[in-house]
Amino acid sequence: MPVPVIVLNFGHSVLNSLEDYTQAASEIYRHYRQGQNVVAVTSAQGDQTDVLMAEARRIGPEGDAKNLPELLQLGERRSAALLALALERIGAPAFVRQARDLGLKAEGSFTEARLTSLNTPQLLQDLKDHDIVVMPGFVAIGEKDRAVLLGDGGADLTALYVADQLGVEAVLLKDVDGIYEVDPKSNPDAARYQEISWADAASVAGPLIAPRALGFAKKNKVPFRVGQPGLPSYTRVGAKTGDKKPAPVPQKLRIAMMGLGVVGGGVFRRVAAHSDQFEIVKIMVRSPDKYIDQGYNPEILATEFSDLVMAKPDVFIDVSGGIEPALPHCKAMLEAGVHVVSANKQAIAAGGQSLLDFANRHGAQLRFSSAAGGGMPVLEMCLREKGRITCVQALLNGTTNYMLDEIGKGRSYAEALKDAQDKGFAEADPTADVGGADAGAKIRLIAMLGFDEAITLDDIPMDSIADFNPEAPAKGAWKRISKLWKDQNGFSSGLQLKDLSRNNFLAQADGEEAHAIFDFDDGDQYRIRGKGAGRWPTTESVMADLFDISETTLT
Ligand code: HSE
Repeated sequence: MPVPVIVLNFGHSVLNSLEDYTQAASEIYRHYRQGQNVVAVTSAQGDQTDVLMAEARRIGPEGDAKNLPELLQLGERRSAALLALALERIGAPAFVRQARDLGLKAEGSFTEARLTSLNTPQLLQDLKDHDIVVMPGFVAIGEKDRAVLLGDGGADLTALYVADQLGVEAVLLKDVDGIYEVDPKSNPDAARYQEISWADAASVAGPLIAPRALGFAKKNKVPFRVGQPGLPSYTRVGAKTGDKKPAPVPQKLRIAMMGLGVVGGGVFRRVAAHSDQFEIVKIMVRSPDKYIDQGYNPEILATEFSDLVMAKPDVFIDVSGGIEPALPHCKAMLEAGVHVVSANKQAIAAGGQSLLDFANRHGAQLRFSSAAGGGMPVLEMCLREKGRITCVQALLNGTTNYMLDEIGKGRSYAEALKDAQDKGFAEADPTADVGGADAGAKIRLIAMLGFDEAITLDDIPMDSIADFNPEAPAKGAWKRISKLWKDQNGFSSGLQLKDLSRNNFLAQADGEEAHAIFDFDDGDQYRIRGKGAGRWPTTESVMADLFDISETTLT
């Protein structure tokens, strides 16, 4: 079965500052973890196009200049590169493609050209190889092989054209979560269309959607959505106009956290950037002084769990390590109906299915996407595909992935370990990373969610990489593979160090990158990837859980 694809267009209004690229990457990651491949089409940041135009006017010839598109496309290209960098930071597998690479051709006026073709097989191959393709909107290759532009708001048109060529859905992301009868910024009670026809959208959507893009969609009957990053609401644009309703608003969630280390610090910063949706009310740490020195508000720091409970949070985020006291604290929160997002694989693996059942009984959500795979959505895949999975092979410990790569390049075990610690990949006590207990906890989580199997660490034969200083270089690449499978003998699992052929998808992971291969009972196979450890990939996974919870609180 082919992996579903979605085209997301990031308009000028949602790319106003460098911080907005982080939000855009987050939006893409949320689609990726739901099992979609993404084509992200970028607009220029804010008023970049006007700035470039002013420069062209100062230097260029009077009137129409054939080389104008060479300059004006730079805004969209810059955005594509910045977005790819933001994706790379969170470990998402982004690949930038230019209009020329993708055979995106157009004819007619070189400032308002008409799109005529796309090398669809190339784009599909890129998606297969990289999962996420970022491309600049607004520009195409015109007659005589010159760059041409698609007119005002041309990135909308690029996105709709690409979606139409691929036969998939496009979402145009704006600074408003859909199409309203009147501008919701000046009319807070304005109603949003759930669904609107192309013709009606043309009369009410004003400058929100580029008229040429709407004209293209109407003529070619291309349905699409208009939405806003981070919000679940949107308007469908298509054949007919439906009801209007005020937009549902997610409840602002009060958050209590336990832990403020590598991941905790990242979560703190990302949550602070969404102060309209989340508020951190308390953070439990061992030594508040250390964090006060770093500028944290003393009022939100606590050393006692009871302070967290008294702060009456809606969500408890556990970014601490170890089973105690994390597991009893998670249970206490769940019992009080507080949703829990946990990055703590040891505590969740120890709690097992009974912890999930406990959460259900108390009407609370327990989410722990970041507990295995870092930014690689391995647990989402398990939840989605449970019942048809026959085998999972994965690189589950970022520290080991990184160290084996470095050792393969000729570095010593000690140097590689020190580096992995400095980069924030390793646990406080790296014995669990190199010995296998960290990957073991993640194997237990995959066994639980993907195979309905409750196993202990002792059930998993494990190769340690402690003091691994191979005498001969690998023929392919050293990888320690977590494997879980079902066959006529029942369920098995293991963690094995291997010299893997470079042709193997798992061997192609670099550094702390994680790769996983899922085999299904119908012979189908899916491959996923992401960074397996580190502040930003893990933080993004926690944030995605938080956004998913937020979506369930619409009022
Ligand atoms: N120490 C862990 C690893 C962190 O290296 O994979 C992410 O779970």
